[in-house]
Amino acid sequence: MLTSVQKVFKTQNCGLPPWEIKSEMPFKRKILCIGAGYVGGPTMAMIAFKCSQYKVTVVDINPERIARWNSDDLPIYEPGLDEVVRAARGRNLFFSTEIEKGIRDSDVIFVSVNTPTKTFGAGAGMAADLQYWDKTAREIRKHSQSSKIIVEKSTLPVKTAQAMERILACGDNGLCFDVLSNPEFLAEGNAIKDLENPDRVLIGSSQTTEGLLARDVLVEIYANWVPKNKIITSNIWSSELSKLVANAFLAQRISSVNSISALCEKADADIQEVTRAVGMDSRVGNKFLNASVGFGGSCFKKDILNLVYICRHYDLKEVADYWEGVVRINDYQKERFILNMLHVMFNTLAGKKICLLGFAFKADTGDTRESPAIRITKRLLEEKADLVITDPKAIDNAKDDLKGVTGSISYVEDPYEAAAGCCAIAVMTEWSLYKELDYREIYRKMAKPAFVFDGRNILDHPALHEIGFNVFPIGKPSLTHF
Ligand SMILES: NC(=O)c1ccc[n+]([C@@H]2O[C@H](COP(=O)([O-])OP(=O)(O)OC[C@H]3O[C@@H](n4cnc5c(N)ncnc54)[C@H](O)[C@@H]3O)[C@@H](O)[C@H]2O)c1
Repeated sequence: MLTSVQKVFKTQNCGLPPWEIKSEMPFKRKILCIGAGYVGGPTMAMIAFKCSQYKVTVVDINPERIARWNSDDLPIYEPGLDEVVRAARGRNLFFSTEIEKGIRDSDVIFVSVNTPTKTFGAGAGMAADLQYWDKTAREIRKHSQSSKIIVEKSTLPVKTAQAMERILACGDNGLCFDVLSNPEFLAEGNAIKDLENPDRVLIGSSQTTEGLLARDVLVEIYANWVPKNKIITSNIWSSELSKLVANAFLAQRISSVNSISALCEKADADIQEVTRAVGMDSRVGNKFLNASVGFGGSCFKKDILNLVYICRHYDLKEVADYWEGVVRINDYQKERFILNMLHVMFNTLAGKKICLLGFAFKADTGDTRESPAIRITKRLLEEKADLVITDPKAIDNAKDDLKGVTGSISYVEDPYEAAAGCCAIAVMTEWSLYKELDYREIYRKMAKPAFVFDGRNILDHPALHEIGFNVFPIGKPSLTHF
């Protein structure tokens, strides 16, 4: 059966399959993306896949990453990504380290470099670190030989486009650069579906004649496959801010549910019953209402902290405090999870073997950035537990994250082997494969009494209890044999 991507592939690409499109065909537009990460790679692959009339080149300073984009072992895992890349790579999609050439040859440049939280100097721990962004702007200015449209894909503090324009305008080459904001709303693990069928594409531009013309060029690119009514435009500052606010709202929802999960545990209520009732109100909606060990990923925390920093900059203390609470609850939830484990396992974890089921920050990705599992691992090691980590896609990243961390950690791919001899298993990632494991078999091989801490509320708790486990979900009554 064809996947949705394959079906589209049959009907798109100007009706031409890749093998009939000659490499020497002139391209209507030359698009460059600087930054071949979780956003740059999939986003550009989708543009190239949908629009064979454009040449799309993705460049990066990291040669290993580029080599993997050019191999069968892509640097990131996303369901459906392999097929999209395979269909377009070498036809009109290219990955390269030749940044200078890429800049020279392109008409439209997407900038998708990382914008992590600053770790030094003013604003450390809050503000966005714009050094990669700033360097990219200077590279564009230095190597450009023709006027270009620059598209901010990275998530940036409001008013960054102005800084970009100022850097670019300093050139003495008489070139014009129009800067657009086009934040990416894809969710990792669902990136290909989100890119193929986005809820919306947002394009912010300056309201000058040139700005609006540049905006229309970008609208035309997306209109190749995104319905026009889903392509929305705004002024550039609204667009930059919308991305921060969208992530803040999503994270706030998780922290809201998690805060109530703590109350449910005290009050013998069940968070799933509560959220079902609350979510059936159409004003609230039922998505993003799962209680869990907390949110992770490279974006939520950094974008909220960035928002908080901007609010403080504008002297909006109450607004800043309000949003900072979302991050505080997220930290609280992870700590609560650990303290609960410690408490119910008789106040000592020293020397106890504990299996972490999953390490990625969410299912269907190998990404572990800001994964709750990192904090949980470090805290469990402080308690001198022996840890066994398993994950279908994230073990390599987990090893990198925990490099230099002292304590007993082993990495085991097979979840049955990972759980063998353990006193407890703790679900860190909602991989669907964990719902289907043979827990009777797992229980048989574990040390007794055996505990399950379901940090994602994905397992069948009564069934596990029946098998013999002591079960501790999030925001629901525990099921024990004591
Ligand atoms: N990951 C997500 O789900 C997501 C979603 C929406 C928006 N964003 C935003 O998109 C941006 C990129 O995120 P990501 O997750 O793709 O980051 P990433 O770290 O995976 O990728 C960034 C890439 O940029 C490269 N890079 C840095 N400086 C460079 C330079 N001067 N020249 C060429 N390449 C350079 C890095 O080597 C890296 O490969 C960030 O601003 C992020 O906030 C991320």
